[in-house]
Amino acid sequence: MRDFSKEEILHVLKTAKKMEDGKFSDLLNGKIMASLFFEPSTRTRLSFESSMNSLGGRVIGFSDPKQSSSVKGESLQDAIKITEGYCDVIVMRHYLEGAAKLAAESANIPIINAGDGANQHPTQTFLDLYTILKFKGKLDGLTVGFLGDLKYGRTVHSLAYALSYFNVNMVFIAPESLEMPSNDLKELKDKKINCKEVESLNPVIKDLDVIYATRIQKERFSDSLEYEKVKDAFILDKSILKNAKDELIILHPLPRVNELNYDLDDTDNAVYFDQAKNGIPVRKALLALVLGKIQ
Ligand code: CP
Repeated sequence: MRDFSKEEILHVLKTAKKMEDGKFSDLLNGKIMASLFFEPSTRTRLSFESSMNSLGGRVIGFSDPKQSSSVKGESLQDAIKITEGYCDVIVMRHYLEGAAKLAAESANIPIINAGDGANQHPTQTFLDLYTILKFKGKLDGLTVGFLGDLKYGRTVHSLAYALSYFNVNMVFIAPESLEMPSNDLKELKDKKINCKEVESLNPVIKDLDVIYATRIQKERFSDSLEYEKVKDAFILDKSILKNAKDELIILHPLPRVNELNYDLDDTDNAVYFDQAKNGIPVRKALLALVLGKIQ
């Protein structure tokens, strides 16, 4: 997210709205996107591939790195230098923090970070912002509660950074072992963002306009016992709404495990399925912008 100014973020969101409202079926005719997923994905990969296809482009790539020459020991830099000869843009998810930056330094074509380890997930952030804007009509003047795995949750790190451009209060709700990383917190405080850290949702729920719930990221724990201790730290169900604002919206990047009870799904507060759908206009916009097909 640090590659984007506030103006650029707003421009991407405006372009996503154009994509949602208009017909651009030939915009990326003749363009090829390589989709390199070194980690599992449903939403990010499929919505990027669907977006590229809908805009008239084509897709190559892999969703299982075992089918790539990385298993023979090929370096990421070499894989990127080779792949860029076959396509116009690379969308990459990788388990290592900083992998997207390394790829971008090795490439002469655009690299889109589809998630790098526990670090960042910027395209998710654009669809999170798009969803908040759609349901709240604004990004300023909101109190946003981030809940769950704030240590390993890359979507949280990206979204908190992006929201720091706006007049937003942030509440970080997590068990002590999964708190927001101190460098992210310091960065927010240096930007004079009003931040609060708590371990329980109950005392703060009445203040929240947005809950951004997250999955406890089992795959990032080196010690499975540590995961067992916190895996059910938060389980939200309909009963939380009793003390919440009527207009509270609940977002989640998905997939969920136990943290969102299915009884929330039919409430007006649950917007996580709309949020996932917004991956299409947002990723269409990002592809069209990085390929220079829309201003
Ligand atoms: N939100 C998200 O990144 O989902 P996937 O892991 O399924 O892509």
